[in-house]
Amino acid sequence: MKLNIALLPGDGIGPEIMTQALKATKAVCEKFGHTLTYKEAIVGARAIDETGDPYPAATHELCMQSDAVLFGAIGDPKYDNDPNAKVRPEQGLLRMRKELGLYGNIRPVMTFPSLIHKSPLRAELVEGADFVCIRELTGGMYFGRPQGRSEDGNTAYDTCVYTREEIERILHLAYQFAGQRRKKLTVVDKANVIATSRLWRQIAQEIAPTYPDIETDYLFVDNAAMRIIQWPKSFDVLVTENLFGDILTDEASVITGSLGLLPSASIGLHTSVFEPIHGSYPQAAGKNIANPLAMILSVALMFEYGFQLMDEGALIREAVNASLDAGVVTEDIADGGKAFKTSEVGEWIEKYIRG
Ligand SMILES: NC(=O)c1ccc[n+]([C@@H]2O[C@H](COP(=O)([O-])OP(=O)(O)OC[C@H]3O[C@@H](n4cnc5c(N)ncnc54)[C@H](O)[C@@H]3O)[C@@H](O)[C@H]2O)c1
Repeated sequence: MKLNIALLPGDGIGPEIMTQALKATKAVCEKFGHTLTYKEAIVGARAIDETGDPYPAATHELCMQSDAVLFGAIGDPKYDNDPNAKVRPEQGLLRMRKELGLYGNIRPVMTFPSLIHKSPLRAELVEGADFVCIRELTGGMYFGRPQGRSEDGNTAYDTCVYTREEIERILHLAYQFAGQRRKKLTVVDKANVIATSRLWRQIAQEIAPTYPDIETDYLFVDNAAMRIIQWPKSFDVLVTENLFGDILTDEASVITGSLGLLPSASIGLHTSVFEPIHGSYPQAAGKNIANPLAMILSVALMFEYGFQLMDEGALIREAVNASLDAGVVTEDIADGGKAFKTSEVGEWIEKYIRG
């Protein structure tokens, strides 16, 4: 295949983990005979510094023209520590999601056999846990208006809005994933309290009978938060709205043992984006210590979900698992053993893929 890939490394550790992910990408393409062309663009704090805009028009244009986007991470302490900053790196991420119509964020939660002991949960609870969180990404409270403060600054408000169309399309996406997996969908809401959640549940109950081979169940978000910890193996595909999904997916990520391990895919109306779930980890920027695996596994998702190239994705996963088994790991998961540098892990994986 001939494909155009937009690279948005972003801030903090973004550029260094992107460099490692590209090594794996190039090795896989050479092995399977694909030609990928890469073009890089700025986003986040770096884009604010250079242009005043965290998601410049030229970056959006490149994303729209590409077959997939590989995204590192955005965020910088100089904005995190300034609550009065008018332009923020996160606005770039939200605008990218909105303008590319990325309404579905897919986060696989899986365990790695050699890292089970890193999970804060008991091994017997997490061993074999394997589920997918599907989070609605372009609606709900993060985008609802009005949002702001009263004139005296002492009252603040957000608005949570969902339309039937937004709910239906994410539920259909979730059913498609459930259909390809163990055929169980858990719809998470707060229908006992919140109006938008009641609409979610009503629409889910209308759609469920149209997928008769898939078992649908419903959980309130507070109950789901407990069940993810108490019984993670009970989930197959979980679908929820934007704010609940943001929180639950971070909770689910700790099952794996490190934030540095989990990839995600954002799918929607235009180009899909593949990115690690972690942030820009500014404390590690430039030190060559960040874990590149979430970024490398995002490349695996790009091949699988983006281009239906399953063998290519599987080879990257195999290489990642082999590096973990061999103990070629960064300090966040080294557990007192030898800690390898970001670039050493990337090079080891590249060599494994090249065979
Ligand atoms: N999608 C994104 O780009 C995204 C997501 C979350 C946060 N952020 C931004 O990132 C910045 C830092 O936020 P934060 O500290 O809350 O979250 P973070 O994910 O950057 O880091 C939290 C902690 O997780 C661990 N961690 C994260 N990535 C790792 C990696 N690759 N290897 C090893 N350990 C890793 C580190 O211990 C780190 O202290 C902020 O500006 C925030 O707004 C961006």
